[in-house]
Amino acid sequence: MQIQAQRLRLPSTRLDGVCGIIAITRNPAAAGEQPLAGLLIDCLERLEYRGYDSAGIALLVGGMESDGADDATIWRIRAAVSTQSLQEIKKRVQSAPRPPRSDSAGIGHTRWATHGRPSEQNAHPHLDCTGNIAVVHNGIVENWRELAEELTASGHELASETDSEVIAHLIEDELRMDTGTQLHNNYMTTLEATRRALRRITGSFAIAVLDTRSNSSLVVARRLSPLVVGMGGGMCMAASDLPALLGLSGSYYVLEDGEIAEITPESIKAQDLDGQARTLHPIHVSWDIEAAQKSGYDDFMGKELHEQPTAVMDTLLGRFISDGKLALDETRITDDELREVDKVFIVGCGSSFHSGLVVKHALEHWTRIPTEIDISSEFRYRDPILSSSSLVIGVSQSGETMDTLQAIHLARRLNAKVLAVSNVVDSSITRQSDGVLYTRAGPEIGVAATKTFSTQIVTLQMLALYLAQLRGILYHDETSLIMDQLRDLPRLMQDALDRDEAVRAVAEDIAGQRDLFYIGRNTGYPVALEGALKMKEIAYLRAEAYPAGELKHGPIALIEPGTVVLAVATKGRLQKKMHTNISEVKSRGAKVIAVANDGDTGTAALADHVLYVPETVSLLAPVVDVIPLQLLAYHVARLRGCDVDRPRNLAKTVTVE
Ligand code: M6R
Repeated sequence: MQIQAQRLRLPSTRLDGVCGIIAITRNPAAAGEQPLAGLLIDCLERLEYRGYDSAGIALLVGGMESDGADDATIWRIRAAVSTQSLQEIKKRVQSAPRPPRSDSAGIGHTRWATHGRPSEQNAHPHLDCTGNIAVVHNGIVENWRELAEELTASGHELASETDSEVIAHLIEDELRMDTGTQLHNNYMTTLEATRRALRRITGSFAIAVLDTRSNSSLVVARRLSPLVVGMGGGMCMAASDLPALLGLSGSYYVLEDGEIAEITPESIKAQDLDGQARTLHPIHVSWDIEAAQKSGYDDFMGKELHEQPTAVMDTLLGRFISDGKLALDETRITDDELREVDKVFIVGCGSSFHSGLVVKHALEHWTRIPTEIDISSEFRYRDPILSSSSLVIGVSQSGETMDTLQAIHLARRLNAKVLAVSNVVDSSITRQSDGVLYTRAGPEIGVAATKTFSTQIVTLQMLALYLAQLRGILYHDETSLIMDQLRDLPRLMQDALDRDEAVRAVAEDIAGQRDLFYIGRNTGYPVALEGALKMKEIAYLRAEAYPAGELKHGPIALIEPGTVVLAVATKGRLQKKMHTNISEVKSRGAKVIAVANDGDTGTAALADHVLYVPETVSLLAPVVDVIPLQLLAYHVARLRGCDVDRPRNLAKTVTVE
């Protein structure tokens, strides 16, 4: 592939943002015919492939065209009509009473909601109280609740439900602190005020700031979320994703983690967040737009699979707030009601069902609440015994899966409390539940679930921890310790992903097989199920998963010389028994490929191939252990010439029964 160099540089911490951002500052003389609003929208359209729910642009109007910077204002248009939002903005720009004449600076955003439902009010850019500062943000402000309270107490009026809006007010706050109450002063630059504001934020961000005082300069900054800067043709542009800039800039730079820059049409002045000057180094970009949309991967599944560490990190950010409470995204269930829960049911389909199976172990272990996991389409027809003290958790990436929706309708009819775990803000399941926890995986385009599976698991695990704490089974310091272990998962997942080449070699060895068996025990069993599902759906191989202890009750009759068996054999309570099960199939001639922890010579001695993964506590291990199985299915599918993003007969969202 032609783009290896960029792949190494761009995704040092994450590959892609959840939201799309664009910032353009240009020399009016070099602007050509296209109004800036149109250019911003064009750039945002190049990010449309990722999906979004609302969008907005803000332009500097007046100022440079008239008689000085002081009469510049911000002209903002936002729309929340799902993936039609950019079209809507175009229409409004065209029909605006006075189209903005400024061609100097503007920012734009496509939003995939994480905090606050998709609405015009929650769409970016967000303004400060004075309307002189506009901000677009990609990322998660982890401490936004505390900051919003602080800002409100000091007189700021927040107009949205988003975490992002606090950034505009923090910048305003820094400017106010500098001059008492007077803005528009010469004392502090927007760069300096933004730098100070960002030091008050925990979490991730890529931002662009437009300030009416700054003529055509813009401030951009990033921590954990990506930001690429492009320059050329009298323009300087910054974007969350490279496709927005391709073909429009002559040279490209990546802002490193923790860097902030003031950009003008001719210059980039960068610093770190401590104010030390930094030099941006140009990168060579040879991607075309299609390659860039996939961050250089050949397909979305490859990209999304590799985004898992970031997705899990985002999902964990800011969830346990200072007093040890879990921040549910929306809830009409009280802590007292949660304390009364005497039975948990998790319902879902496909990978969402598997994530429930994984978490059953942790949930029962930590909370001691009996937990049943059901396939949604079975649950609704099996006359389940529910009451007001039952908690039914509907897990659905899309939030639109008909079977899961019907399952939660039944639960509500039977008076149970219903909580949704979904990746799509304001999806049907979230509107029809009593409480919601969102996974923050960002858009998943590939039909096969990867990053949404791992984020569902950590979301459910956090919920389990919270229930355990509420019921007095785990103390706050114990949940904190487990949260720390959860926070270490992205590092371990990245480590597992870095072994892609070794998995590919095994894929070459088995790509010609017709039938595969997957075995596991305890939390390894749902990992086996998920590995087999991936292999079925994208590589079209007959892949069956069994609890390893069940082999001798029937399935072992299918094992013959050369049969390939994938064994999830990472460390845990049942590893010795797993070794016995591996020996059982080995002695019947199976070729065994084991998923095992680094340095596990015991498992290696039994297997033909080992896919090594780093070790973590066994209740949390599935999100790490599943990675080689996802990669294996991915490589086998590609070796067999299958379209991994659009497997035959499958839809991403199943909205029929
Ligand atoms: O959107 P949902 O999570 O409700 O979707 C459930 C299943 O349709 C989904 O997980 C499906 O099995 C995936 N293709 C698995 O990779």
